[in-house]
Amino acid sequence: MSPSTLHDGLEALRTDRAHEPAASSAVSRLASEFGTPLYVYDRETIVSQFRSLRAAFASRFPKLRIHYALKANGNGALLAVLRAEGAAPEVVSLGEIVMALRAGWAGDEILFTSSSKGPEEIAKAVEIGAVLNVDSRDELEQAATSAAAAGKRVRISFRINPGVDPHTLHHINTGIPEAKFGLHLDGGLARAAYARARELPSVAITGIHCHIGSQIMETDGYVATARKMLAFVRELKRDFGLSLEFVDLGGGLAVPYHDGEEGLAPAVLAAALAPVWSEAMAALGGDPPALWLEPGRFFVAPSGFLVTRVNSVKTTTVKTFVNVNAGSNTLLRPAMYAAHHRARVVGASGAPEILDVAGDVCETGDILAAERRLPRPRAGDFVVFLDAGAYGFAMASTYNARPLPAEVLVDGDTATLIRRRGTFEDLFRDETK
Ligand code: LLP
Repeated sequence: MSPSTLHDGLEALRTDRAHEPAASSAVSRLASEFGTPLYVYDRETIVSQFRSLRAAFASRFPKLRIHYALKANGNGALLAVLRAEGAAPEVVSLGEIVMALRAGWAGDEILFTSSSKGPEEIAKAVEIGAVLNVDSRDELEQAATSAAAAGKRVRISFRINPGVDPHTLHHINTGIPEAKFGLHLDGGLARAAYARARELPSVAITGIHCHIGSQIMETDGYVATARKMLAFVRELKRDFGLSLEFVDLGGGLAVPYHDGEEGLAPAVLAAALAPVWSEAMAALGGDPPALWLEPGRFFVAPSGFLVTRVNSVKTTTVKTFVNVNAGSNTLLRPAMYAAHHRARVVGASGAPEILDVAGDVCETGDILAAERRLPRPRAGDFVVFLDAGAYGFAMASTYNARPLPAEVLVDGDTATLIRRRGTFEDLFRDETK
C-alpha cells in the first residue's frame, strides 16, 4: 500500500475515520510544521465542488456564468484556484473589490452587491467597469451622478427582493419581505426602479439579481424565486423593451454539516430550475439572458478544517469539557448561529462519551461543539472541526488578544502556508498612542 498523503488524512477525518493513522499523521505533521489553531484547506475539494456545480448547470444552461462570493473566504490562494477554474468574483465592499483585482480579475468581471454602498465604493465600481448591483432608488441616483461626473456609463443590475422564504436560519434568510435587501417586486418598487434607470443616460441596464439566503436545503424556494424573477424579466421586455444580459439567481446552496446529511446537490437544483428557465426563455424570444450564480459556501466550506489542540479536559458535576486552543474568535459560527461543525478527536480510540468542546475565549457561549459523542482526548491531542472553509477565517477576530490563526493549502501531499500566523505585534500595530 502506498503511504497516505495529507489529502488522504483529511479525507479520513471527513469520513469519520479520525482514529486511523492517515488522519493522525496528517494532523500531527500539519500541527508541528505550522502550529495550532490552524485553518487547512484541501485544494482538490475546492476544485471538485466547483466542477460539480459547473457540470450540473452547464449541461442545462448553455449561457452560464459562475461567480464566487468572496466573503466566504477571501484568501488569495483560494481565489487563484477558483479563478483558474473560471469563477468570476461577487464582492460586497471596496475591500473585496481590491481583493478581486489583486487576485487578477478584471474590473468588468466583478459584480458588486451591497445594500449600503458609500460614494467611494460607487465611484470605484464606475471607474473599473464592474456591474453595480443596485439596492435602492437612492443608490441608483447616486450611481448615475457618479458615472456622469466620470464621463462614463455605469453598468447596473437591481437586487430584487422576491418575497420568498427558502426555510433557512433566520439570520441568513435574505429574500423574505422584511429583510433589508433588495427592491420588492410586490408594490412595484422593482418596476419603478427599472423605469427610472431607463431615463438616466449614464446608466446601462445589464441584468437582474436576487439572493434568497444561505445554507438552503430545498429547491422550492429557488424555483418559486425563479418563476417570479423570470415573469418580471418578461414584463420588462414587454413593457419597456428591455433585453437583459443576465439573470442572477444568487448563491446559497447548502452543504452537509452532519454525517449522513446531503446538502443541496447542484444537479438537483439545476434539474428543478431547468424547465422553469427554458419555458421562460422560449416565451422571451430573442437573445436570451445568461444564468448567473454566485455561491460561496458550496465551493469552499467542505474544503476547510480547523485544527485545534487540547489544552485540558475537565469533568464537572454536569458535563465534561474539552478545552481547546481556539474559540468563537477563531470559528464564530457555532456561537453566532448555533451552527453545527463536526468535531473529530484525532487518534483517540476509547469508547465515546458525551463531551462539550469549549473554546478559549471568556464567554459562556464559547462552545465549539456541544454534547457530542466523542472519544475522550488528553491534553496535547488534536480536535479538528470540519467544513470550516466558508465563513470561518473570514469571520475570525482577535478578541481576547488572540492573534489570528495561520492558513494552509494542501495539494495532495504538499502543504503551503497561505497566511502566516498573526503575531502580538499585529495586535498593536495600528494603535497610535
Ligand atoms: N450572494 C450574496 C448577495 C450574498 O449575500 C451571499 C452570502 C452569497 C452570495 C453567498 O452565499 P452562500 O452561497 O455562501 O450561502 N456568515 C453566514 C453566512 C452569511 C451569508 C451572507 N451572504 C454563515 O456563516 O453561515
